[in-house]
Amino acid sequence: MPLFENQVVVVTGAGRGIGAATAKLFADHGAAVVVNDLDAEPADAVVREIEKARGLAFAVPGSVTEDGFAEHLLDAAVGHFGKLNVLVNNAGFLWDGMVHTMTDEQWLKVLEIHTFAPFRLIRAAAKHLREPAKAELAADEPFSENRCIINVSSTSGLHGNVGQANYATAKMGVVGLTKTVAKEWGRFGVRCNAVAFGFIDTRMTRPKEEGETIEVAGQEIVQGIPEAARGRAFTANPLGRPGTDEEAAGGIVLMASPLAGYITGHTLEVTGGAGI
Ligand SMILES: NC(=O)c1ccc[n+]([C@@H]2O[C@H](COP(=O)([O-])OP(=O)(O)OC[C@H]3O[C@@H](n4cnc5c(N)ncnc54)[C@H](O)[C@@H]3O)[C@@H](O)[C@H]2O)c1
Repeated sequence: MPLFENQVVVVTGAGRGIGAATAKLFADHGAAVVVNDLDAEPADAVVREIEKARGLAFAVPGSVTEDGFAEHLLDAAVGHFGKLNVLVNNAGFLWDGMVHTMTDEQWLKVLEIHTFAPFRLIRAAAKHLREPAKAELAADEPFSENRCIINVSSTSGLHGNVGQANYATAKMGVVGLTKTVAKEWGRFGVRCNAVAFGFIDTRMTRPKEEGETIEVAGQEIVQGIPEAARGRAFTANPLGRPGTDEEAAGGIVLMASPLAGYITGHTLEVTGGAGI
């Protein structure tokens, strides 16, 4: 039986990169997938790809940082597919700068997307994950569903990284959030884990000089890593290469699967062995 048969998964930032690969991998394993992204067109394209492979998917475009969007996204998911099993907090962007030149806005926007938005989504998910499980517990029934949350973290959070004080703080923050939710909701059978990536080949890590941008607070913020720093970023890991978005997705799907049913509060490093 497919690992996620009859399960409903919401993935934020799933229009490209790790999120898109994650949405497709969940669908390959039988899940009905809700594809969120800031950009509607790539989110729709991911839905079309999943449907072409005879999977079930549905797009809810919009920004996870908008007031009320967390409730809108999860209510839309449950309205469409009937329930929620897995929430993947993946959406993100970089707005790098050295500590001595970083603006308040740069700091706050990066914390907003990588910690505040996941917190709001988890809080909104209580209705769909914690409450049904609590009712089952009160009725002395076994938990009827796989229920879990995956928060995407980074080696920048675990180890710090030059030019990323905002991002490193946020990505460590999400580890604390993960452990707290694991402790608060564990008795209801709801698991919460983080997956911390090293260097995965996506828009976020391609050469900054290519000039790919994302609009944040009315400004075009260039994504990517300076060419000179890219080689150093992955040659130190034992596998000696960047990870693919499919390999990154594998870490998320593994931790969400029933095979990880006794794993909670953990941060899985998907890094090609960096930092061992
Ligand atoms: N690529 C890496 O090496 C790496 C390493 C560690 C952690 N991560 C994390 O993995 C996650 C995915 O990043 P990626 O590498 O796939 O980057 P990416 O830029 O390819 O994809 C990120 C997606 O998030 C979406 N997004 C951004 N802001 C959003 C918002 N407000 N609401 C909804 N969607 C939004 C973007 O439109 C984009 O499609 C991020 O949380 C990132 O911090 C990536």
